[in-house]
This record gives sequence, structure tokens and C-alpha cells, in this order.
Amino acid sequence: MKGTVQITSSAIMIILLLVVDRSEGDPRSQVLNLTCSQQRATSANFIPNFVRVMEEISTRIQTSHRATAVMGTGPDLIYALAECYGDLSADDCMICYAAARTAIPVCLPGVGSQVFLDGCFIRTQNYNFFEENAGSNDTVICGNTTRYGVSLDSARQAISDAARDAPTNRDYFARKVALASVGTVNESTYVLADCWGTLNESSCKECLERASSSIFRCLPWSEGRALHTGCFMRYSNTNFLNADPTRGNTNNGGNAKSQLIQRNCENQQLNTRTDFSLNFGQAMADISTKMETSHFGTAVTGTKADKVYGLAQCYGGLSTRECNLCSAEALTTLPGCLPSTGGRVYLTGCFMRGHSQLALDCMEAFSARNIGGAF
Ligand SMILES: *[C@@H]1O[C@H](CO)[C@@H](O)[C@H](O)[C@H]1NC(C)=O
Ligand SMILES: *[C@@H]1O[C@H](CO)[C@@H](O)[C@H](O)[C@H]1NC(C)=O
Ligand SMILES: *[C@@H]1O[C@H](CO)[C@@H](O)[C@H](O)[C@H]1NC(C)=O
Ligand SMILES: *[C@@H]1O[C@H](CO)[C@@H](O)[C@H](O)[C@H]1NC(C)=O
Ligand SMILES: *[C@@H]1O[C@H](CO)[C@@H](O)[C@H](O)[C@H]1NC(C)=O
Repeated sequence: MKGTVQITSSAIMIILLLVVDRSEGDPRSQVLNLTCSQQRATSANFIPNFVRVMEEISTRIQTSHRATAVMGTGPDLIYALAECYGDLSADDCMICYAAARTAIPVCLPGVGSQVFLDGCFIRTQNYNFFEENAGSNDTVICGNTTRYGVSLDSARQAISDAARDAPTNRDYFARKVALASVGTVNESTYVLADCWGTLNESSCKECLERASSSIFRCLPWSEGRALHTGCFMRYSNTNFLNADPTRGNTNNGGNAKSQLIQRNCENQQLNTRTDFSLNFGQAMADISTKMETSHFGTAVTGTKADKVYGLAQCYGGLSTRECNLCSAEALTTLPGCLPSTGGRVYLTGCFMRGHSQLALDCMEAFSARNIGGAF
């Protein structure tokens, strides 16, 4: 044995690019950071335009992982962008997008909103920000529960590789996995890098170079996220990535149970009442939280004429996941009724409604005259 190099049992094993399969996707719809523009819109048409621009985005995101839309002119002008990260299935994209769409109305009547989730992103502004890739709000969130021991180099390499590859990949998305274990300690690294589709390749590259140098500062902590104006990156020692869509199991069959059948909006308009729109948004947010774990949810927000009642129900037989997908579709469709006093959406697997106190008063008068009127 003399003179030979001995490889001990603590040798570091690094196997690159092994992908772990998952039977079901994770929409990663936790909100990481929400920022609102402090400047307030002065035009009464701004909120109705916000609703319209988001309605457009909601339609486009159904068939794509990214969407942009522009509405209005002058003080009503609004630009919106939504992006799902590349490893989400179409269904998971819809669920994540719905959570993001439900989070941003708190910013109204601010002229801008921006929300990062672990699986998707939305930004709205009163100016064209589509080509911005950096800004004063670029930030990094480091985990602080576990640390890497000796596998720092493989972590750093996987992060650099993801940042290098995403700009030239389809969808500006890259994922990297570096499996590593030291003795009994698992020191694997999972990385995701994603640029918004409105950037050009060099601008995406620049964004991810900055993002990767930002998250390097999280090391040796084993979790880091970079939230930049034009891109998102994350690395972790736990596997947060969804199965590679090219390996099948992209969709999970919930789709047939979340088709829109009909949307009925009230005829009456409340477009000058900012508080009503805010309360409606809050009611949707409250219902959204409840529907994550239940097939039924109600919410009451606000007071007097601006009071909003919301209700959602998934039909029996839907799995939790199917219900999540159906309520995601409902949550992104119903707000399109604004600025009217409310509305209902009927889908194949669920039902959702939201109404102002005013609309309910009218309906009560109506159903008093029509015994058995369905309310
Ligand atoms: C940064 O965030 C603040 C709110 O936290 C917002 O007022 C400001 O407009 C944002 N700046 C940019 C450049 O997006
Ligand atoms: C890419 O976009 C940036 C920002 O809009 C711009 O300054 C740059 O000239 C563009 N580069 C190319 C090669 O088109
Ligand atoms: C969100 O990001 C902004 C801009 O970087 C930062 O000022 C703020 O503290 C962050 N908020 C949270 C809750 O992390
Ligand atoms: C870890 O981060 C959390 C949240 O930012 C903070 O409250 C806590 O004090 C941190 N713990 C350590 C050990 O730094
Ligand atoms: C480390 O743990 C992950 C699960 O988090 C697993 O997929 C991977 O195989 C483990 N790596 C090794 C080398 O055991």
C-alpha cells in the first residue's frame, strides 16, 4: 500500500446533473417579498385599468409561463408583467400566479406593485419597466438554519453554472443539481436561475451575474435567494426543484375540473370607490388563504357601502390539489368583474362569488319579491 494514494471513506462524492423525480408538482406559491410604490395614482380610471391589465395577463398566463400587457394612456397608463419560473408545470404556474395576483391589490392605489414568490413573479408600473434589469430594491434573502461544511466549491460552481446557462437557454431558465455528501452529511446543492422574458440575452446575463454574486454572500449558509429587478435565483441544500418537464409528468390532470363555465358580473358600477376595490382584493386574499387547506371559504371585509362578502366552494370529489387549481382560476377570473359591485364565477369544479353590501341589499329586495330566489 505504501506509495499509493489512499482514498478515504470521507471522500467527497459529487455527481452533477442528476434530477430527482417527483410525482406531483409544487407551485411554490409562498410570497417572499411584496413592495408597493409609495406614489398614488390620481386618476379615477387607474384601478379599473389595473383590473383590465391583470385580466389580460391572467388570460395569457394560461397558455404561457410569461405574459406582459399594457393598458391606458397618460395618468391611466399601466404596464404589467408576470413570469412563472421554468420548472413549474402549467397547472402550478396558474396556482402560483393566482397567489401573486391576489397579493398585489394591497398596493392600490399605488402606481406600482411588485411581488416575488418562490415560483413566480408579478410587477405592475405606470411606466415601461420591461427592459430594466437592476434597481435600488434588488435584494438577497439568506437562510440561516444550516451551513455547508466542505462542499462550498461545488455549491459555488452549481450557482455559477446556472447563471451562465440561463441566458442562452429556452425560456431564460436553468436548473443545476450538485449532489454531494460528506460522510453522513448530505451537502447537495439545488439551483434555479430565471430571467424575465422582456430582457435581451446580454441584459439577462448581466442580471444573473449580479444575482449570483449577491447570493454568493449567503455562503456558507445553505439557502439563498436573489430578488432582482430582471431575474430571480435560488440555491438550497434541499431539493425545491420540480421534476424536469422534459421528463414527462408536466401536468397533473386537474385542468378538466377548473374550466370556466360562466362569469356573471353585477350591472351596477362602483368605479370611484377605491376602498371597495381594496376590500374586494382583501376578501379574495382571505378566501385564497382558506382555500389552500379547505374546500370552502368565506370572507367579510370593510364596512358600510364598501363592505365586501366573498364565498368560495370546491365541489365534492375534488382533491386538495384540484381544488387549489380551480380556486386559482376563480381567483384570477372573478376580480375582472370590478369595478362593478361584484359577481360570480362558475367553473367545472368550483364556484366563487364576491359582492358589495350594496349589491346584496339589492338582491335581498329582489329575493323578497321572488320567494325562493337563489341567493
Ligand atoms: C422600491 O420599493 C419602494 C417601496 O419599498 C418603492 O416605493 C420604490 O418605488 C421601489 N423602487 C423601484 C426602483 O422599484
Ligand atoms: C439589451 O437591452 C439593454 C437594455 O434595454 C440595451 O441597453 C442593450 O443595448 C441591448 N443589447 C442588445 C445587444 O440589444
Ligand atoms: C422587500 O424588499 C425591499 C427592497 O429590497 C426591502 O426593503 C424589504 O425589507 C423587503 N421586505 C421583506 C419583508 O423582506
Ligand atoms: C435567522 O433569521 C431570522 C429571520 O430573519 C432571525 O429572526 C433570526 O434571529 C436569525 N437567527 C440567527 C441565528 O441568525
Ligand atoms: C441528498 O439529499 C437529497 C434529498 O434532499 C437526495 O435527493 C440526494 O440523493 C442526497 N444526496 C446524496 C449524495 O445522498
